[in-house]
Amino acid sequence: MRPLEIIRKKRDGYALSAGEIREIVSGYTAGDIPDYQAAAFLMSVYFRGMDEDETFALTRFMAESGRQLDLAAHFDAVMVDKHSTGGVGDKVTLILVPLVASCGVGVVKMSGRGLGHTGGTIDKLDSIPGFRTSLEIPEIMRVIEATGAAIVAQMPDLVPADGALYSLRDVTGTVESLPLIASSIMSKKLAVGADAVLLDVKAGRAALMPDYESAMELARSMVGIGRRAGKRVAAVVTDMEEPLGFAVGNALEVSEAIEVLEGGGPEDLRRLCVSLAARMLIISGSCSDFPEAERRADGALRSGKALEKFAELIEAQGGDARILEDPALLPHSEWRVAVCSPRDGYVQHLDGRIVGEIAMALGAGREARGGRVDLSAGLVLERKVGDRVARGEVLAVMYPSRAVSERVPMLSEQLKGAYGLGDYPVPERDLIRGTVDSTDCL
Ligand code: URA
Repeated sequence: MRPLEIIRKKRDGYALSAGEIREIVSGYTAGDIPDYQAAAFLMSVYFRGMDEDETFALTRFMAESGRQLDLAAHFDAVMVDKHSTGGVGDKVTLILVPLVASCGVGVVKMSGRGLGHTGGTIDKLDSIPGFRTSLEIPEIMRVIEATGAAIVAQMPDLVPADGALYSLRDVTGTVESLPLIASSIMSKKLAVGADAVLLDVKAGRAALMPDYESAMELARSMVGIGRRAGKRVAAVVTDMEEPLGFAVGNALEVSEAIEVLEGGGPEDLRRLCVSLAARMLIISGSCSDFPEAERRADGALRSGKALEKFAELIEAQGGDARILEDPALLPHSEWRVAVCSPRDGYVQHLDGRIVGEIAMALGAGREARGGRVDLSAGLVLERKVGDRVARGEVLAVMYPSRAVSERVPMLSEQLKGAYGLGDYPVPERDLIRGTVDSTDCL
């Protein structure tokens, strides 16, 4: 069938066959289908959706469009992967990878750079002097053999179909489509080829999925794809109304991740990491009882085992592990700007999206692909939802890049505006809002 007929078929609301989907994916990746037809195809999927069979076929053909790591075939031990749909202050990967590896389960994570209001793990790791994330497959395998874990940048030839389609979605208003998001994420998970995958689907104003219902629908779709591909997959829907932890910005987040690995750090972040680590231990088959899995993860943080594993991982990937004893070796800004409360009261709401956008504007992120990031820039929240604050007390501290100095007074006012202050305390929100599980053991 010609691409035009496939586009018309989807436009008119019919389900496509696997062969038709393959034609679009391979034709566009090979450059035989022009952007305008691929864009029309994406828009027809945006409006008409895809059923489970179509979404699975799209995922599979995208996964097969380039090189595949096939980790499960390389290692005798069970390998687990994790993915977050992205959130403000989300430094969970930096903690979870060494934490789970220190509990004896192999973990691999391919990550991206930040764009828009959420940061990317690879930018965060760039703040560790010497740490290399662009590794070739043999080197990735050596790091995993040496440490049981690796955190590396997405390889350009892994799922090239997603690279091409995602760039087109970005400029054609077709990012927010459930089958397109599910297939984009899961194609990369299938190409990495771990035995089990834990998905952290963020829900809230600061996330890709703005509400709980759409986040659960995405979670179900991705778990369904994983199940059909023979993987053990679990998804957790987590709250992303306010940022996770206190720090937002690359080196600041590395520093906060180290605090958690030392057994301290912000309570919300620590609890989430223990809970996610426990789920990874269960889906890997290393533990069968959830409270026991949580105890193991918690013990690895308290005993320093997880921190030791992080040191091994940093060294294996060429980084300077002395940052663990001396965080002053991380890029840091000498310029601090305190943002103070305009009134007495309680923090009733904190808009994570605005906080993320301010951190990016302070220099922690890039507005366009390829832009420069100031690794030391960002902000630290001194007050979060539920906290009491007096007039004039510090709500947050900004660490601006020198390059944005003129915008600092305006950003300071905006950050104040991100705080909803009122007369009464509000109840704490549950961080974990829902779960979906292909193994029926969680
Ligand atoms: N992350 C991805 O990798 N793909 C999407 O489509 C959205 C988020």
